[in-house]
Amino acid sequence: MAGSDIKRIGILTGGGDCPGLNAVIRAVTKTAITDEGWEVYGIEDGFLGLIRNRMRKLEMEDVSNILTLGGTILGTSNKANPKRFAVRYEEDGTPVFEDVTSRVVEHVKERGLDAVVVIGGDGTMSCAASLIEYGLRFVGIPKTIDNDLMQTEMTFGFATAVQTATDALDRIHTTASSHHRVMLVEMMGRNAGWLTLHAGMASGADVILIPEIPFDIDKVCEACMNRTKRGKKFTIIAVSEGAKPIGGEQVVDRVVHDSPDPVRLGGVSEVLSEEIAKRTRLECRATILGHVQRGGTPVAADRVLATEFGLAADRMLRKGKFNRLVTYKNGVIDDCPLEEVADQQRTVPTHHRLVMAARALGVSMGD
Ligand code: F6P
Repeated sequence: MAGSDIKRIGILTGGGDCPGLNAVIRAVTKTAITDEGWEVYGIEDGFLGLIRNRMRKLEMEDVSNILTLGGTILGTSNKANPKRFAVRYEEDGTPVFEDVTSRVVEHVKERGLDAVVVIGGDGTMSCAASLIEYGLRFVGIPKTIDNDLMQTEMTFGFATAVQTATDALDRIHTTASSHHRVMLVEMMGRNAGWLTLHAGMASGADVILIPEIPFDIDKVCEACMNRTKRGKKFTIIAVSEGAKPIGGEQVVDRVVHDSPDPVRLGGVSEVLSEEIAKRTRLECRATILGHVQRGGTPVAADRVLATEFGLAADRMLRKGKFNRLVTYKNGVIDDCPLEEVADQQRTVPTHHRLVMAARALGVSMGD
């Protein structure tokens, strides 16, 4: 079927929520209805909606007034991989997984969806990629506050998360300087340090610890003590949830057994806070920003990027360019095969220009 033969599309948001999802839903739905004359079905809770056949027809009024709204009007799930779906739980809570791909294929056919727009990160794209062989057709749109998707140098949601984290770091500054403390602020990002690096630089953090550059605790303490010696009475440490010591392990907050990507990182700032206090006798406090980084109204740049991504997806559908992901590189919106981003993470190169800038400004990277 050529792209122009499309009559009905589905749209879903998968993985963790992020600011700008509604802006994409709005852009895709509005252009699909008014520009193309297609019907749009909003699939609820990511791939869970395709597994359970939960979707609703979206009209223009459903996407009116949602541009500035955080979260997703469709709901999302980061536990619904059709290839490995928890169909039930043993008494002790252990999930029992089954391949429920056939349900997804059946529901897409039953609902007459000619293609599905999937808005998500590497996990969502991997779910979509695994369904291509069954004849389903997708167009992917990259989202994540972690900014760690391959083939795209900027995902929407990232700019908002950087702003939120920067605001938090700015506020932490006041307590740090009033109480003469070492203040650690822990940010999300999984195995990628983009968010911490950007927010840390934006707020003038003294130490920035990212997963890509394992830290030496002696060097971190030295950075704090050097500031004390120079008469600076406080130190701000921006630390990624995925940061780890040289030769050591990441700190795991919890394991979500029914999630395809079960490990949730968190807590490294608390471990570091205790260790630095013990070694330097400086007073330390840790703040874990957590999900506040994913919430709230998208900043203008994210609204614009999300809208452009939505429009690009619509144009790809029109041209019949299926099973590809919208990408953004060097200021140009393009696309690449879904398989190229599935289950992969784009981490910070250790010699990235922002890392070099940090070092040039005297920021300790902990190594
Ligand atoms: O991928 C987005 C993200 O917010 C990560 O930065 C974080 O590690 C993870 O999701 C948290 O997941 P959950 O919402 O399941 O706790």
